[in-house]
Amino acid sequence: MPIPERLNPTFVTARSPAPRRPDPMEEARKRLIVALDVPDAASAVALVNQLENTCRWFKVGLELFVAAGPAVLDPLLKRGHSIFLDLKFHDIPNTVAAAVRSAAALGVHMITVHAAGGPAMLAAARAALDGLSDPPELLAVTVLTSMDSAQMSAIGLERSPAEQVELLARMGLAAGIRGFVCSPQEVASLRALTGPEGVLVVPGIRPAGAEIGDQKRIATPAEALRQGASFLVVGRPITQASDPAEAAEAILKEMAEALEP
Ligand code: C5P
Repeated sequence: MPIPERLNPTFVTARSPAPRRPDPMEEARKRLIVALDVPDAASAVALVNQLENTCRWFKVGLELFVAAGPAVLDPLLKRGHSIFLDLKFHDIPNTVAAAVRSAAALGVHMITVHAAGGPAMLAAARAALDGLSDPPELLAVTVLTSMDSAQMSAIGLERSPAEQVELLARMGLAAGIRGFVCSPQEVASLRALTGPEGVLVVPGIRPAGAEIGDQKRIATPAEALRQGASFLVVGRPITQASDPAEAAEAILKEMAEALEP
């Protein structure tokens, strides 16, 4: 299945027309996803109002979706933005498949399930999108970027984060999934595993000097892109900046420089 341009701005396909020299700032804009981790719809709309001339993609996660419900997506979709609905489903296969169908019906462009749900759950999630004319990209979350070896060991996982990410990604690929969420530190090995078809979405992004917060496996925007990320997810460094649009613009500039041939 060809990858829609919205979902794979980097990796032109054999069927693409001869490439115009892409504008690096435009390319960067197509690859930055701003996490709208805010408590209510009014705060989300206020942030989008500040950012929509700068950014194209917005991520709606658990905090906002649980508070505001699916209606929070309507103004974003009406304004033509791309939406990553990051609800990280993790349940029995039948329940996850039904949730994936419900999420797809909302008209969003990316959705997430936890790869740790196992092969049967991943296969059911993928099969739930079969036959849809314009399905969202299904991303399997590998190991949360807030997890380090100590956190993993506490839940009985003695592999390193890198080994666990690779195991989960191989499992996802076997279930027919080509999109993964991983930290900047594993993105190069996942790119090697998926090839150019992979849609690799990378949180844990911190511009040099930014607050790290609860993230553990982090990198700068430029590093993550050079390692092979398709998309960068950035939350607090933009949303908690005194001027979010200016912070987004600075990140986009750094991304554009990393994308210069
Ligand atoms: O504020 P910050 O830039 O750390 O936000 C990162 C966003 O990416 C959050 O919305 C978080 O839920 C999400 N995320 C993550 N790690 C993953 C998957 C998603 O941090 N593995």
